Amino acid sequence: MPAYTSRAQDLARLNAAFDSQSTSTPASAPLNPTAEQIQPIVTSSAATAVSTNTGPIATSTQGFGESPIGRELAQNSQRLARINELQLPKPGRTRIFTISNQKGGVGKTTTAVNLAAALAYKGMNVLVIDLDPQGNASTALNIEHREGTPGIYNVLIDNVEIADVVQVSSEMPGLTCVPATIDLAGAEIELVSLEGREHRLRDAIQRYCETSMTPPDYVFIDCPPSLGLLTINAFVAAREVLIPIQCEYYALEGLSQLLKNIDLIKKHLNPELRMSTILLTMFDSRTRLASQVAEEVRQHFANEVLNAVIPRSVRVSEAPSYSQTVITYDRSNSGALSYLEAAAEIAFKGVNHG
Ligand SMILES: Nc1ncnc2c1ncn2[C@@H]1O[C@H](COP(=O)(O)OP(=O)(O)O)[C@@H](O)[C@H]1O
Ligand SMILES: [Mg+2]
Repeated sequence: MPAYTSRAQDLARLNAAFDSQSTSTPASAPLNPTAEQIQPIVTSSAATAVSTNTGPIATSTQGFGESPIGRELAQNSQRLARINELQLPKPGRTRIFTISNQKGGVGKTTTAVNLAAALAYKGMNVLVIDLDPQGNASTALNIEHREGTPGIYNVLIDNVEIADVVQVSSEMPGLTCVPATIDLAGAEIELVSLEGREHRLRDAIQRYCETSMTPPDYVFIDCPPSLGLLTINAFVAAREVLIPIQCEYYALEGLSQLLKNIDLIKKHLNPELRMSTILLTMFDSRTRLASQVAEEVRQHFANEVLNAVIPRSVRVSEAPSYSQTVITYDRSNSGALSYLEAAAEIAFKGVNHG
């Protein structure tokens, strides 16, 4: 039995799930849908950015006019309606992701907080661990993280329990965050002399999951862009790596090094670790380069790349300045919808692949 089924099967399952949740489709939607049935989810995620196919939308644009903006609004409201109707399966055990890429500015933090908010919006318990001294994830989730605020630094260095420092985000019920403060900048050095320095985060998460009244369904660890002891702790604590890839030139540079590092961690520190998910971010449909990068990544990583692609969107980038995720800031924006669709794919893929 291969570790993964084919992408076509994934798509069919996801689409069947979407269809079976839809009020307009009989609940007994087949697991092997026809091309017409697959079309709506294709149009509603990746292909929105890369395709001009408006076939299924054309019928629903009445009332919005035929302008491109009218069409987009109609399309977005259809996408949101589908997401709202969809019920996501809860994972059998906590899924722990590290969001990693040695490059800065590729959308790691944006992906961590928005996927977390999207899953919480769909009823999951989600914990975000901010492991970047910059504290950007804490900011986006409106979590107090001034210098001296108890946070992940104290968990790693002072053996404080996650339960004692975790904060509830005002963003969404079920969304919690362990903040990072600037104190974390010194942790790389302080960790060196501590016992069990590579697996302090893993042990803390394990204790939290075992003792919490409501253990998280998902944990997302937002990593700094370097490979130091903080990132190694994330790799050791996680079971899955999610790599956001920016659809730009040099996108694949450094990726082979990242994969080598994952292999090394797998071999020496965490045999359970696997790179399960790649998310294409900041996709600009106006450039051919973005499509070429997306195509190339899909060729190399057919099973890992999500169908959903995150478009470049001003709303996504301005949400953190309001201490919000885009899921609450502007849910009907195409960036928010793409994160919601990516979250749904992750949830269904997890069930299908165990
Ligand atoms: N889909 C997007 N559209 C527009 N801007 C984005 C998008 N995703 C991220 N950004 C912006 O790009 C910058 C880098 O993103 P960030 O998530 O902080 O990257 P990283 O955590 O990898 O350093 C931020 O200013 C963020 O707001
Ligand atoms: Mg970041």
